[in-house]
Amino acid sequence: MFYRASLYVALAIFALGLAYKVFTWFTYRIGADAAGISAAARVGAALQGMVRTLFSGKIVTLLRAFFLDAILQVKAYREDRLRWLMHTLIFFGFMLLLLFHALEKYVSVPLFAEYQPTVNPFIFLRDLFGAMVIVGVGIAIYRRFFLKLSHLRTNSQDQYAIAILAVIMLSGILLHGAKIGSYTRYEEMVQEYAMNADEEDLKGLEAYWVEYYGTVSPKAKGPFDAATIERGKLIHEMSCLQCHSRPQSAVLSYGTALLMRPVALALDRAHVPTILWYVHFLACFIGLAYLPFSRMFHIFATPVSLMANAVMEKKTSAPANIATRQVMELDACTHCGTCSARCSVGVVFETIPNLNILPSEKIGSLKALAAGKELSPQQLKTILQGMYLCTNCYRCTVACPSGINLQDLWFSARETLLARGYPEFLVLSPFSYYRGLATEGLNGARYAKASEIARDGILAGVNVAVVRDLSSPLALGDSALKSKLEASFQAQTFSQCYRCMTCSNACPVVRNYRTPQATLGLLPHQIMHAVGLRLWDLVFSAGMLWDCLGCYQCQEQCPQSVHVADVLYELKSVAIARAREKVSAETGVKV
Ligand code: HEC
Ligand code: SF4
Ligand code: SF4
Ligand code: SF4
Ligand code: SF4
Repeated sequence: MFYRASLYVALAIFALGLAYKVFTWFTYRIGADAAGISAAARVGAALQGMVRTLFSGKIVTLLRAFFLDAILQVKAYREDRLRWLMHTLIFFGFMLLLLFHALEKYVSVPLFAEYQPTVNPFIFLRDLFGAMVIVGVGIAIYRRFFLKLSHLRTNSQDQYAIAILAVIMLSGILLHGAKIGSYTRYEEMVQEYAMNADEEDLKGLEAYWVEYYGTVSPKAKGPFDAATIERGKLIHEMSCLQCHSRPQSAVLSYGTALLMRPVALALDRAHVPTILWYVHFLACFIGLAYLPFSRMFHIFATPVSLMANAVMEKKTSAPANIATRQVMELDACTHCGTCSARCSVGVVFETIPNLNILPSEKIGSLKALAAGKELSPQQLKTILQGMYLCTNCYRCTVACPSGINLQDLWFSARETLLARGYPEFLVLSPFSYYRGLATEGLNGARYAKASEIARDGILAGVNVAVVRDLSSPLALGDSALKSKLEASFQAQTFSQCYRCMTCSNACPVVRNYRTPQATLGLLPHQIMHAVGLRLWDLVFSAGMLWDCLGCYQCQEQCPQSVHVADVLYELKSVAIARAREKVSAETGVKV
C-alpha cells in the first residue's frame, strides 16, 4: 500500500541520515588539535569517556543537564521569555502529538484501555496539542518576520523548519475539520457499525449526527422533530457513542468544520478529505526523512551537546573528545540568534556588513570549514574578519541556550585559519591575538608560527595605518557625530562619566605599557571625557582606540555604568567607516 511504502522509505532515509550525521561527528574536524587524531581514535575516546562518566558521580550532572537545560530550557527562559514560550509550546505540543497521535498504536492503545481518537479526553487533547504547536509556530513567525529583532537573521533553513511544521499542523487540523463534516465518512461508519438498523432508525441517526456531531448531509437538514432525534439518539447510543464524544471539545477542528460547512458537501464530493489525508501524511513523511539534514536535527544534537558540555572540562577531557564535541556543537545550534543579540561586536555589523561578525552566522561558516569544503580566498577572508573582530568576551557562550562552548569553537577556528595563512587586513587590536590564541593549551612550536603570522598581519595592516593617519583631519560633523553616539543604544552613556579613572586602572592594555600615555595617547577615562567635550581630534588620534582589545573590564568596573568599551567600539566603527570612504574616494576602489 502506498502509505506503508512511503512510510518505510521515509524511515529508511531518516535512519541513513542519522547514521551519516553521527559519522560526521567523528570525521569532521576544526582546530589544530583535531588535525592529528583519527576517526577511530575519536570513536574509542568517546566510548571510553561515556563509560567513565556513567560510572562516576557525574551521572547526576548529566541528568540535570538533560532535564533542566534540554527539556525545560532553563537557560532560554532566563534569556528571552517569548522565545522560551515558543520553544516550549512547539516542543511539548509536537512530542505529545508524536507519541499519542502518530504513534498511537504503540503508546495510546496499550496505555489506555478505553482509547479511541474520537472520544474525550483524547479528541480534546489532540486538538490542544495541535493548538500548542500552531501558537508556537505563530510566535516563531512573529519573532522572525514582524519583530525584526536586531541581529536575528532568518535563512532558508529556518524558513523550512517553520514551513514544514506549519504544513503538518494546518493540514492535520483541516483534515479533522473536513472529516467531521464529511458525509462519506458518516456513511462508511454507518455501514460498519449500524448495518442492522431500519430505514426510520437511520433517518433518526442521521438527524442526530447532523444536529449534534457536525455531519453535513445532502438529504437531512434541520430543524428535526423531537421524535426523530429521540429515535436517532437510541441508535446512536447503541452503535456509536462508545467511540464518539461530541467533536465540539476539539475547538480548532470543530471551528474549522463550522467554517467549512457551507462548502462541506462539495469538498466531500471532490474527495478533499482524502486529499488532505495525503497532504498531511506526505508532509509528515517528508519532515521525517529530511529531519537529519535540516535544522530540526537539533532535537537530537542539542541534548547530546548540552550533556557533553555539562560533564566535559577543557583541562581534563581528551583532545579527541573535544574535537568530536565541537563538530557536534555545530549541529546543536538552533540558529536562535541569542548569541548575536549579546555579542559585544555585534554593533560593528552595522559598519562592516560581514555576516561572519555575528556568532550565530559564524557557525554556518564553521560548518563549511569543518566539512573541509573548498573555500575561495574571498570566503576565507570574510570568515577571518569575523573571527578576528571577536573579542573573546564570552558573552555568547554564557547566553547560548544550546550550551555550545562558542568560545572554544572560535579558538579552534582561529588556529585553523591562521594555519592556512590568511592574516586579517582589518585588525582591531594587536592584543586580541594573544588572548584569542589561548596560548596555554597550545604546543609551543605551533603557537610560535601562528603568532608570527599574526604579528606580520598586524604590522602589514595598512588599514590600521590609514585610520591612524586619518585621525586629525577626520572631518566629521561635530553635532552629527555626537548625536550618533547619543543615539546609539550601546554608546549613549558617556556623559555620565565623572572621571574617577577606575576604567583606566582596570584596563589590561594600559597595564601592559610602562608609560601608557606615550603610546596610547588618551587612556579610557580620558577618552570618555574627551567625547563629552567633543574633542574629536584627540579622540581619534588616541592609540588607545586601536589597542583596546574589547575585554569589557573597564565597562564592568565603572561605577557610573558608562559603557566604556561600547563607546570605544562605536568610535572605532565610525573611524573605520570614514577611513573606507576616504580610501575609496582617493583610489576609486571600493574597500
Ligand atoms: C469502534 C469505534 C467506533 C464506532 C463504534 C463508531 N466509530 Fe465513527 N469513528 C471511529 C474512529 C476511530 C474514527 C476516526 C477514524 C479516522 O481517524 O479516520 C471515526 C470517525 C467517524 C467520522 C468522521 C469524523 C471524525 O471525527 O473523524 C464519522 C462521521 C463517524 N465516525 C460516524 C460514526 C457513526 C455515525 C457511528 C455509529 C453508527 C460510528 N462512527 C461508530 C470509531 C468508531
Ligand atoms: S566572544 Fe566573540 S562572538 Fe562571542 S559575544 Fe564575544 S565578541 Fe561576540
Ligand atoms: S550558537 Fe547558541 S545562541 Fe547562537 S544561534 Fe546557535 S543556539 Fe542560538
Ligand atoms: S570608570 Fe566610569 S566614571 Fe570612572 S572615569 Fe571611567 S568611564 Fe568615567
Ligand atoms: S575594553 Fe576597556 S579595559 Fe578592555 S582593553 Fe578596551 S579599554 Fe581596556
